[in-house]
Amino acid sequence: MNKKITIAIDGYSSTGKSTIAKQLANKLGYVYVDSGAMYRAITLFSMNNGYISKCKFDIPSLIENLGNAFLKFIYNPKLGFSEMYLNDVNVENEIRKLEVSNLVSKIAEIPEVRKKLVGIQKEMGKNKGVVMDGRDIGTVVFRDAELKIFMTSSPETRAKRRYDEFVEKGEQVRYKDVYDNVLDRDRVDISRKHSPLIKAVDAIEINNSDLTKEQQFQIILNLVEEKLRNV
Ligand code: CDP
Repeated sequence: MNKKITIAIDGYSSTGKSTIAKQLANKLGYVYVDSGAMYRAITLFSMNNGYISKCKFDIPSLIENLGNAFLKFIYNPKLGFSEMYLNDVNVENEIRKLEVSNLVSKIAEIPEVRKKLVGIQKEMGKNKGVVMDGRDIGTVVFRDAELKIFMTSSPETRAKRRYDEFVEKGEQVRYKDVYDNVLDRDRVDISRKHSPLIKAVDAIEINNSDLTKEQQFQIILNLVEEKLRNV
């Protein structure tokens, strides 16, 4: 039972990938990596440096200065997961804001950005014992992952969950804006040229529209245990 596997969780925006990934990592003693946080941190870096805004996108400057964006995850024992740091500043709260969500999929289309982040992600998972969530984990980052999960749920369920998260954090957002963002990001993520969001042929699809967090956890934990028995 000491064998460690790699668990890749992909899926549409706000499908609860990070919730299940954190639960699994805590249960198994694995490292959890939120690959979306890295794309969000590069988006924040681009916003802070004026490379991207609602009406402007200076891709050459972003690419030229990408080497100045230093990303690091630091485990927060109080929260039970790692927080994202950009150039030694904790940006965990800032990268979750709707302003960042509205621009992140544009940043994630740039091949140079993907190359940099996929390199870091592969390095983080090289010893296995990792649960990583994102869009291209089972198809690009860890093609040989022992367990691949593809999460789906209805757009309304996803937007409602994300809206509730914002409200819980005390942030003023409109449901309609959150709903539009969820659909818009899915559209860009599935249609981009490089590493689009698609279900890996060997991924197991879980639609969690009608599942509680506990039910979902139990279903996926059973899949993990079955894999662990067979490695
Ligand atoms: O949590 P949520 O599902 O809303 O998104 P996220 O995982 O934080 O990812 C934010 C965005 O980063 C996605 O909409 C994608 O555009 C991009 N992303 C990606 O392209 N590849 C990944 N492996 C992870 C995220």
